[in-house]
Amino acid sequence: MNLKSNLKHPLFRKIAEAAAELNLPVFVVGGFVRDVFLGRSSTDIDFVVIGDGVEVAQRFAKRLRGHHKVSIFKTFGTAMVHYQDYQLEFVGARKESYHPDSRKPDVVSGTLDDDQKRRDFTINALAISLNEADYGTLVDPFEGVSDIERKLIRTPLDPDITFSDDPLRMMRGIRFSTQLGFSILPETMEAISRNRERIRIVSSERISEELNKIILADKPSVGFKLLDETGLLEIIFPQFLALKGAETREGKGHKDNFYHTLEVLDRIAPNTNDIWLRWAAILHDIGKPATRRYQEETGWTFHGHEVKGSRMVSQIFRQLRLPLNEKMKYVQKLVFLHLRPIVLSEEEVTDSAIRRLLYEAGDDIDDLMTLCEADITSKNREKVKRYLANFDLVRQKLKEIEEKDKLRNWQPPVTGEVIMEAFGLPPGREVGLIKTAIREAILDGKLENEFEKAYRFMIAEGKSMGLQPVNESL
Ligand code: CTP
Repeated sequence: MNLKSNLKHPLFRKIAEAAAELNLPVFVVGGFVRDVFLGRSSTDIDFVVIGDGVEVAQRFAKRLRGHHKVSIFKTFGTAMVHYQDYQLEFVGARKESYHPDSRKPDVVSGTLDDDQKRRDFTINALAISLNEADYGTLVDPFEGVSDIERKLIRTPLDPDITFSDDPLRMMRGIRFSTQLGFSILPETMEAISRNRERIRIVSSERISEELNKIILADKPSVGFKLLDETGLLEIIFPQFLALKGAETREGKGHKDNFYHTLEVLDRIAPNTNDIWLRWAAILHDIGKPATRRYQEETGWTFHGHEVKGSRMVSQIFRQLRLPLNEKMKYVQKLVFLHLRPIVLSEEEVTDSAIRRLLYEAGDDIDDLMTLCEADITSKNREKVKRYLANFDLVRQKLKEIEEKDKLRNWQPPVTGEVIMEAFGLPPGREVGLIKTAIREAILDGKLENEFEKAYRFMIAEGKSMGLQPVNESL
């Protein structure tokens, strides 16, 4: 098969010429070639050189107009060149053997076949020649193209060898299966289960990178089910697995929160590509196992699971080496607030409840609503219809109040400094109490959101606490 028409960009010719000058054979490999067959375009392109990849990268960069930096990664013998919108990576063909207890390979140079063999999956082990004699010819020793057609994930070698070379590949296989809608060959699946413990030698950063790619797929539940089936989930994210199961006592059951959460995740996927909102979906019920109680009259309860859950977020983020910054705080906040719109929609939707929600959610109110809508997974159609109708009402009211009161990121009109000055107080408990009273009165609609009125309210509030104002008037 000749794929010349897929090598239209001048960069391929330029690389071919640089390699020819050095008398070194060069091939395009990996994801780029796979994506040609999948009809996707990619800007990350890998080149394998039979010889020194760094040398070809340098020669190629030198031939380009303008300065192009070559980044060399000595330990791996690879070089990277940024050219226009492309990231071009050059590597020398290798025959690798790994020590069973380490990820550091003993690198010995090899042939193209050696290099293709040591790649993760047949669909990623395709190569296209850039050499004069057969420019554009596909090299497919493991029937990778046929696996793409059959939608199959399979390793080129015995999977035990491929996975022992780099155990992260077990997660990559599940990730590709989730992203592409491919199935994993049963033997490959068995090998993942068999080798699952080896994932422990892989850094949490690399694991989370793959996990995030699964989470960002169109139907992330597919990946999580495979992670569960192979036993990887129990090792990398046991808190999530703890959601599994539904006990029935005296005829009273509760839903299986593992499958419920996966449904929520799939339901939120079409509405957001924000990884952190998707994480909030994953973690919204994470506090349930720890708060589960059985009461004879009411059956199963999970009181306070939103509080417990939001407290669990930081430990999970730390364990998975996810960022401990405002993204984490955002997830905590959404987990903490995830019941509020539902509770609200079950009751009469009062202005003050809406004001409170707007105040607490701030700019994240829309994301919170998206999360809560995805959370409605009841099988009872009538119930779902009722919830969604109430949700529309909540949304409408949110809009009205937002326009009227501008409560998003709102701060009460009287600050702590003003309170301290008015009563000649040092910072302390009383200042906080007065501040809260003002805020609550405004949110309840008992006090107008206006400085003068709030000031008068503050004086009255302070006096009722036995404080003497130094400065009663404005
Ligand atoms: N590769 C591998 N084992 C790994 C990682 C990568 O064999 N653990 C090989 C595969 O041949 C892969 C290529 O290196 O195609 C490039 O890897 P990478 O850029 O991580 O992935 P892509 O296949 O390009 O896919 P994606 O961009 O979706 O991550």
